[in-house]
Amino acid sequence: MTLWTRRQLLALGLAGAGSAAAGATGLWLTADDSNTASIDGVSADDLVQPQELRSHDGVLAISLTAATARARIGTRQAVVHTYNGTLPGPTLRVRSGDTVKVAMTNSLDTPTNMHVHGLHVSPEANGDNPFVSIEPGQSFSYEFVLPDDHPPGTYWYHPHRHGHVADQLASGLYGAIIVEDEVPIPATRERTLVVSDISLDDSGRPAAASHPERMMGREGDTVMVNGQVRPRVVASPGERERWRIVNACPSRFLRLSLDGQDVRLLGRDVGRLTRPLDISEVVLAPGNRVELLVDTREGNSTLVAAPVDRGAMPGMMRAPRQRDTGSDHSLELLSLEVGGAPVAELGPVPAGPAGRDLRVEPVATRRTVEFAMGMGGIGRTRDGMRGNGSMMSFTIDGKVFDPDRTDISVRAGTVEEWTLVNNSPMDHPMHLHVWPLQVLDGPDDEPPTWQDVVNIPAFGQVAVRVAFDDVVGRTVYHCHVLDHEDLGMMGTIQSRSAPDA
Ligand code: C2O
Ligand code: CU
Ligand code: CU
Repeated sequence: MTLWTRRQLLALGLAGAGSAAAGATGLWLTADDSNTASIDGVSADDLVQPQELRSHDGVLAISLTAATARARIGTRQAVVHTYNGTLPGPTLRVRSGDTVKVAMTNSLDTPTNMHVHGLHVSPEANGDNPFVSIEPGQSFSYEFVLPDDHPPGTYWYHPHRHGHVADQLASGLYGAIIVEDEVPIPATRERTLVVSDISLDDSGRPAAASHPERMMGREGDTVMVNGQVRPRVVASPGERERWRIVNACPSRFLRLSLDGQDVRLLGRDVGRLTRPLDISEVVLAPGNRVELLVDTREGNSTLVAAPVDRGAMPGMMRAPRQRDTGSDHSLELLSLEVGGAPVAELGPVPAGPAGRDLRVEPVATRRTVEFAMGMGGIGRTRDGMRGNGSMMSFTIDGKVFDPDRTDISVRAGTVEEWTLVNNSPMDHPMHLHVWPLQVLDGPDDEPPTWQDVVNIPAFGQVAVRVAFDDVVGRTVYHCHVLDHEDLGMMGTIQSRSAPDA
C-alpha cells in the first residue's frame, strides 16, 4: 500500500501525524501500522447487503416503521430496534433532484423522529426537521426534495429525538442513503457497509448505558457490519470493489485498515474527491462516511478497526484500559477472501468535479463556537463521577440545548468562518445539519476538504467555513458522540433569506 507523503498528510490536516492536529479533521489518515488482536472462532457468514429502496421517475415514496424485532447477533438471539424489521434498515438509493417521501411510524415505546444525515435539504416543516417528535403509536409524513446539484455520496438516516438518540442508535436504528453519481465510477461491484456497535444484556436486549458510559460516550461490546459479526466477502484478483462505509456507532471512532489490498479513498461524507487517494488507514468519527475503492489482490485480508484515543473524563484514572475510552484493542470487522482466476482490470477512475472552495470567497461573519464539559463539583473526587448522582453538563458556548432558543442566526447567501474550540479533555466530533463544512487545515493549493462531521480534538480547535446558500430554515449542530448530544451538547441555528431587522 502506498505510504502517505508529508504533502498529502498536510492536505488532510495531518502534519505531525498522531498529534492533536491529526484529530482536527474528524476523519483523518495515517501511514502507521496497527497491531491487531485477532478474534478466533467467530462466524464466517457471507456479508448480506441491506435491502435497497430506489427512487423511480424522480420519487422515492416509502414507509418506515421503527419497531422491536428479533435478530441474531453473532451467536446470540437478540431483541433490538429496527427500521422495517432489519438490522440495519433498508438502504435508500436516490438521485439529485429526487423527491423523497417517508411515512414514518413509531412502534417503539419512546418518542422518535428521523434525520437524513448529510443531505442538503430543507429542515423546515415536514422536511429534515430535528424538532419533530413522533410519539409512540404515532406516524409522521416526511417529504423533501434534493437540489438538482446535490453532491453524490453515502449519507445515512437515524433517529434524532433529543434525549433518546444514543439509546435508539445503540438499539439498532440506522440505515444508509446513497445519492448516485452523475458519472458512473467503473467498479466490479458495490457494497454498503454499515458499521454499528451494541451491548446486549442477559435477556438479549440492548443494555442500558450507565452514567459513566453516557458521559464518556457509550461503546457497544459487539461491533457489527450490516448487523453481522465479522462477515466474509469473496472476490477474484483484479476486481475493483467500491465500499460505502457508514460509522453508525453512537460514540465509537473507527480507525480502519485493510491489509494486503490496494485501497483508495474515493470520497468522504459529501461528494467525491477530485482524484482518489491511496491510503493505508482512515479514521471515521461517529457519523462520518467514506467511500473506498479496493483493487483486489490475491490473498486473505481483514478490515480492522484499531483503537482511537479520544480522550478521557476528568477525574477518572487514566489507566491504559481507560485511556482510549473503551476501544482498547483492535477489532476484526470483516474478512475479504480474494482467490481464483484473475479478471481483466477496469479502466481508470474519472476525475471528480473540482468543487466549491470557500477559501477564495469573502467571509461575512466570523464566530467562535466553544464545546465544554461543566465540572459541577464532579471530577474533583478521586472516583470521578461515581457516588454523585448528577450528570456532568455538556455545553456549547456555555449552554445546554434548548429547542426554543436560537443560538446562531445566519443570512442565506453568505459564507461564515467558525473556529470550533474544545475546552475539554475529550474529543467532540462536531456536526452541522444541512450545510456541509469546509475544513481549513491544509495548504491553499490542495483541493478543499469537505465533511459534515469534523472532530475537534481534546483541548484543540479547528476552523471551518460554511456557505449558507439556497436552503433556509432552522436546525441544529451538535457533538456526534450521541450521548453528549442527548446530554445537551447541541445548539440551534436559523438561516434566513432576508437580513435580520
Ligand atoms: Cu447524524 Cu444531528 O446527526
Ligand atoms: Cu445530521
Ligand atoms: Cu462530545
